[in-house]
Amino acid sequence: MVNKRQLVILANRLPVRRVGRGGKGGWRLSPGGLVSALTPIISERNGSWLGWAGTSGRAPAPFQFEGFRVHPVSLSQRNIKEFYYGFSNRTLWPLYHDAVQKPEYHRAWWASYQQVNWRFAKSAASIITKNSLVWVHDYHLQLVPSMLRSLRKDLRIGFFLHVPFPPSELFAQLPWRREILQGMLGSDVVGFQTRGGARNFALLARRFAGATGKVGELRFNGRDVKLDAFPVSVNVGWLEKMANSESVHKTTARLQKKLGDRKVILGVDRMDYTKGIDIRLRAFQELLERGEVSADECVLVQTAVPSRERVSTYSDLKERVEMLVGHINSEFGDVGRSAVHYFHRNLPPEELVAFYRLADVMLVTPLRDGMNLIAKEYVVTRTDDTGVLVLSEFTGSALELKTALLVNPHDIDGLSATLRRAIQMPQGEMRRRMRRLREVVRSHDVFDWGNKFLRALEE
Ligand code: G6P
Repeated sequence: MVNKRQLVILANRLPVRRVGRGGKGGWRLSPGGLVSALTPIISERNGSWLGWAGTSGRAPAPFQFEGFRVHPVSLSQRNIKEFYYGFSNRTLWPLYHDAVQKPEYHRAWWASYQQVNWRFAKSAASIITKNSLVWVHDYHLQLVPSMLRSLRKDLRIGFFLHVPFPPSELFAQLPWRREILQGMLGSDVVGFQTRGGARNFALLARRFAGATGKVGELRFNGRDVKLDAFPVSVNVGWLEKMANSESVHKTTARLQKKLGDRKVILGVDRMDYTKGIDIRLRAFQELLERGEVSADECVLVQTAVPSRERVSTYSDLKERVEMLVGHINSEFGDVGRSAVHYFHRNLPPEELVAFYRLADVMLVTPLRDGMNLIAKEYVVTRTDDTGVLVLSEFTGSALELKTALLVNPHDIDGLSATLRRAIQMPQGEMRRRMRRLREVVRSHDVFDWGNKFLRALEE
């Protein structure tokens, strides 16, 4: 990069997490492609990352971590309840995901959301050097761009939304729609996962926030606001290297031995009601019931990472999923041979990649998803061009991964028929489809994504 201005990232979560306790405690980089892509970029620009450390009360003091500075932002117990679990995850999250659960609107949560967004904006304003680039991430911090601009006129401010931006029929429900839109319009660049998201935003910004112009050339308060789609991707080099490593091959062989000589169908998700985990279990159950596949020839492995468990819609889903797994295994399992293997925990990256390598079929069935990086990760690790990706039409990644088997997850018959087709797909077709999928993901990795956004911001 020619002009290396300082870069500061603001996100609800820090890219590091605390490990160990007391004197022996320290910080380690959180897993995930996004963190592994953004941290080298901020290190290169002598930058900082502001975010919540994940606990309540006083925030740890700022510290240096592998080439960049970490600035923890504090959240009180009340903020966690009202800003994080409340407004972020019970108002915005369901509203932005097609209202698959009913969004809740509470004025106290909104007050807390404003308060926490101010806290982020003020902390950032106090540490950022003149003329820096600021990159604000995701739905938790949509007011930060305009707040920060009111404090510091010298900055270039970018905002990227990782989740879908909803159509006006849904967004218009939000009692604070004008404030949220104007908050985001404080940016110089607003990025979305898809063009559809950018178009929804432009329409709403004109209708409710007094902006003028169209997607490419929106004007607000006498400034240009650039809107565009920046589809996020994965760390291709790292995943391929991992997929071909000796240790992953060993783990794959060990797991294969345990699962027996059966076709492996895999699901990997956060335990979230938007992901369609229960729906895919039902589709598998129906195939078993109709005798179209048998547990002697197929096994479903589902891993679900614990998430937002204090929200009842999340704990209800966990119960539903566990009941379904129990039913399927009690009906179709045998001694030493489950029809479904279910893990409710985080898998270490090596084991996750080993499961990707093992999976003959990958099931990605969200009802709505901004992108879905699991689909892209799976594709990248299939270095021998085998494996079938079944992918929901309602993910951002379906717009790119066109040779996957695309499904409507609301259509259970369609889903079970597609799953059967995936299990039985001839080698030739499988390889043709997978080769194309791999080309698509390899041509645009997470570093391209980060650099494309920063180029737009620097212009
Ligand atoms: C989604 C959001 C992220 C969020 C992640 C995990 O991917 O877009 O902003 O960090 O879920 O959720 P959590 O609530 O644990 O941060």
